[in-house]
Amino acid sequence: MSGGGAEKVVCVTGASGYIASWLVKFLLQRGYTVKATVRDPNDPRKMEHLLALDGAKERLHLFKADLLEEGSFDSLVDGCKGVFHTASPVINYSADPQLWYSLSKTLAEAAAWKFAKENAIDMVTVNPGFVIGPLLQPTLNTSVEPILKLVNGAKTFSNATYRWADVRDVANAHILAFESPSASGRYCLVGRVMHCYEVVKILHELFPDLNLPEKSVDDNPFVPTYQVSKERAENLGLNFTPVEVSLKDTVESLKEKKLLSV
Ligand SMILES: NC(=O)c1ccc[n+]([C@@H]2O[C@H](COP(=O)([O-])OP(=O)(O)OC[C@H]3O[C@@H](n4cnc5c(N)ncnc54)[C@H](OP(=O)(O)O)[C@@H]3O)[C@@H](O)[C@H]2O)c1
Repeated sequence: MSGGGAEKVVCVTGASGYIASWLVKFLLQRGYTVKATVRDPNDPRKMEHLLALDGAKERLHLFKADLLEEGSFDSLVDGCKGVFHTASPVINYSADPQLWYSLSKTLAEAAAWKFAKENAIDMVTVNPGFVIGPLLQPTLNTSVEPILKLVNGAKTFSNATYRWADVRDVANAHILAFESPSASGRYCLVGRVMHCYEVVKILHELFPDLNLPEKSVDDNPFVPTYQVSKERAENLGLNFTPVEVSLKDTVESLKEKKLLSV
């Protein structure tokens, strides 16, 4: 895998998604030609924000592909210097969607590592925590939804600690991992581990006019917070975005997209 070369053609799967849209934006900014896949190229909500990106007219090529169709990606990936695989089909067969999602991600990554080893593919994985930050796509995505609920007048916040990551850091980490010849293995990407009460506190400081919840959903004690090492990602050259900036930009973006009801 190498980021150099005269023909910088890369593929991004699930390109209209939250993380992938930022990835496409940054790749175009860096002069790459991007073959981007979506399931429905006729859906303007999936396409318009990508087509409006700087460099899209010259270097963005959109293709229809579905992971559930065998061989759907073969011809697209052919001849690319790298593939950024962000698309993720999750069919929920369980009463516990979170558990099902985690299982699907674990199995998918294990299968990808096995395939990469058997086929001598130079693979690196980026494993972000809970991703927040501004939206490029017009619709709300799953990981920003809890922030929207908080600022849209939720009465309580969850008694939970999350591993927060900024969407722009996630996109940049993918590119740095691709461009760095020494990148290897897995990169856990977490800007800060924080309980929801701390998130509410920061939001209150940033947006004193918002009607934010004051109490937790239950009376259980808050689990002490740990941190996740940033060292490996920083060694790739990543400068983490402070969580205060991520939260500020998330709310500004939700306002701009008119998703705030208050
Ligand atoms: N957001 C987070 O907090 C977070 C944290 C850790 C890991 N991740 C992982 O990061 C990746 C991107 O997440 P995201 O938050 O950007 O999600 P997202 O906005 O929902 O994007 C996921 C994309 O996957 C595509 N997709 C779904 N089923 C597909 C299929 N059968 N074939 C082809 N494409 C399909 C969708 O494409 P269409 O446009 O065609 O519908 C969608 O654009 C996912 O693998 C996710 O599991 C996300």
